[in-house]
Amino acid sequence: MPYTPHDPRAPRIALVGATGAVGETLIRLIEDRAFRYREIHLLASPRSSGRTLHVDGVAHPVSPVDTFDFADADLAFFSAGTDVSRKWAPEAAARGALVIDNTNAFRMDPRTPLVVPQVNADLLARRPASGIVANPNCSTIPLVRLLRPVEDRWGLRKVVVSTYQAASGRGHSGTAELREATRAALADPADAGPQAEFRPTLAFNVVPFIDELLDSGFTMEEQKMLQESRKILDLPHLDVTTTCVRVPVLNSHSEAAWVECDDSVDRAELVARLGALPEVTVHDREVPGAFPTPRTVTEADHVHVGRVRVSPHDPRGFWLWVVADNLRIGAALNALQIAEELVARGTL
Ligand SMILES: NC(=O)c1ccc[n+]([C@@H]2O[C@H](COP(=O)([O-])OP(=O)(O)OC[C@H]3O[C@@H](n4cnc5c(N)ncnc54)[C@H](OP(=O)(O)O)[C@@H]3O)[C@@H](O)[C@H]2O)c1
Repeated sequence: MPYTPHDPRAPRIALVGATGAVGETLIRLIEDRAFRYREIHLLASPRSSGRTLHVDGVAHPVSPVDTFDFADADLAFFSAGTDVSRKWAPEAAARGALVIDNTNAFRMDPRTPLVVPQVNADLLARRPASGIVANPNCSTIPLVRLLRPVEDRWGLRKVVVSTYQAASGRGHSGTAELREATRAALADPADAGPQAEFRPTLAFNVVPFIDELLDSGFTMEEQKMLQESRKILDLPHLDVTTTCVRVPVLNSHSEAAWVECDDSVDRAELVARLGALPEVTVHDREVPGAFPTPRTVTEADHVHVGRVRVSPHDPRGFWLWVVADNLRIGAALNALQIAEELVARGTL
């Protein structure tokens, strides 16, 4: 029974951003994975005051985050944007809650571990100095899960990635805008529709620009993939270079990754090693050329891999095609798996 109001060992949870795409996914995962809790507090902006959401069949009001006393929470998930995390996550930690933050606010803070449980769960053995555990970027998480065993076996030299990122990466308003802009363009091809989230329009388009532009010419999203991969894999000089592209897909990000190693890679061994990872499905294990797509994968909680191609010219390099649900694997599931590890290790 996940909702255990009389179990003093079960944590009191605060969920900041409960009404958002990540927050709602987290609620479904708390139910599906039977995560034990004693209380749950659903928090959002004042816009959501008066709303009620159900968790495990129980109705809970949604309250504004700025009226909540974080002393009433042992564990606080933050999924309400970087500004909200910067303002409230340190306060929550100071009041005694252990924070799991889904935003970019603290990922590169040296006092804050950046955790993908399948890669570096050992960092969860003790409470972090900042009181915050950071959840990485949604495209970084599936990539590092696949790169870890490659580094261990063949040594990583360089990774070149193009991403194909879904509209849900911009939350509820992103998917709503893609639907509306698509309807507008179908009615009139000259009509770009709304462009509040994606500019130029994402309808029947691909846009190689996510987050803000940096002086280097890379975008912040591209820089995040480099910096976060280095921190999670503990490879401070790893060369990761990326082009991040928004595509007209509702949910699940895809990536084409070119990986260069120190030693020659054997395709059969690579497929076997990736296929043996927890919650990873390799699609062309038996049927060469098979591939996952955002519309066709069925196990939403797996990282899906296909088109595994070792270069015939230099077997130190290979390609992977990767698909992963950005709301689950790239955000809510990773956050909840961090919480499960914290409970299992007695850190919480
Ligand atoms: N979407 C993804 O794939 C993904 C992946 C990794 C990380 N993230 C990160 O997760 C966070 C949430 O993303 P999302 O996709 O769930 O966005 P979303 O659907 O737009 O939801 C945003 C949530 O934040 C709340 N919020 C906004 N402003 C607030 C404020 N001033 N005070 C309190 N709550 C506020 C909203 O509450 P109201 O409903 O009341 O406005 C809503 O609950 C973002 O930081 C995003 O970068 C997202």
